[in-house]
Amino acid sequence: MEKKLKEIKENALKQISKIKNLEALRNYELKLLGRKGELTKLLRGLSDLSVDERKKLGKLANDIKTDLKDNIKSIKNNLDVDSGDKKFTDVTLPGDKLEQGHLNPLTILQHELEDIFTAMGFMVLDGPELESDYYNFEALNIPKYHPARDQQDTFYIDRDDKEDLVLRTQTSSMQVRAMQKFGAPLRCVVPGRVFRYEAIDATHDNTFYQIEGLMIDENISIANLISVLKEVLSGIFHTQATIRVRPGYFPFVEPGLEVDMQCTMCGGKGCSACKHGGWLEMLGSGMVHPNVLKAGNLDPNKYSGFAFGIGLERLAMMKYNINDIRLFRSGDIRFIEQF
Ligand code: PHE
Repeated sequence: MEKKLKEIKENALKQISKIKNLEALRNYELKLLGRKGELTKLLRGLSDLSVDERKKLGKLANDIKTDLKDNIKSIKNNLDVDSGDKKFTDVTLPGDKLEQGHLNPLTILQHELEDIFTAMGFMVLDGPELESDYYNFEALNIPKYHPARDQQDTFYIDRDDKEDLVLRTQTSSMQVRAMQKFGAPLRCVVPGRVFRYEAIDATHDNTFYQIEGLMIDENISIANLISVLKEVLSGIFHTQATIRVRPGYFPFVEPGLEVDMQCTMCGGKGCSACKHGGWLEMLGSGMVHPNVLKAGNLDPNKYSGFAFGIGLERLAMMKYNINDIRLFRSGDIRFIEQF
């Protein structure tokens, strides 16, 4: 009987391996393992044997049965994959789109500005957002209790026995730090986040970004300032920018200048983008005040320089036609996904 069992097994394995379709496999399975199957019949004969033999052969027979079942199962799986039973896959269908993150429009703009400035030999600096009262105000010619402080009210952090810290109101706070660290000649830009105690509306936020520019050398004049700003604005708006300067007050520059750019939409004729004025207010700038140069350990009789500060949100709003500054920090995916 042992011999017979082994014969059945070998023969069955041979047969199974030759089977090419599911139906034939099913029929063969019945013939072998079904109620009237070859192996089933043989197993029934076990009851005629002695207890010892039944134990021994019973185990062998069961092992063979399991082996054959496994074998049939794996052949079945293979046939399933190869045969028409498998669902039709249209390989020409577009695949599932992978969600990919991307940069905030302000970051895109910041990178563009950094490229333009580094091409002109400016280095890019980073500064602390929690700044000393000294670098944010005093070193910039804004003494304590000076009315000019009211222009940029901010969040003060009291420290009992140490100097007060402020959330910086402007990236200009890096001007004197840069002068002290690098001396002159100096060309740098400082992109970064600034904070103000501000009534929030469509054009004002309490947290926003600026990029500060500073250039110091011998014989630097307003002509240099205008030419650098023209180059930068032309690079950002991909068109030859026309600018004009007006007097403006910032305690750390003398003279101080407000810079306007001719509206790129209407070429200065007046349209809704420029509120029919033909010009857009772009940034504050001026020639570095002698007191500021002194605070930076530079001799105002030898060196002169210009500085400017551009609001990134303002610039992005003009470039991308965005009508509300609050959108930038809203976390609204529908806004952010458009860039
Ligand atoms: N820091 C000024 C502001 O925040 C802008 C500015 C920078 C003006 C440099 C002049 C020179 O408004």
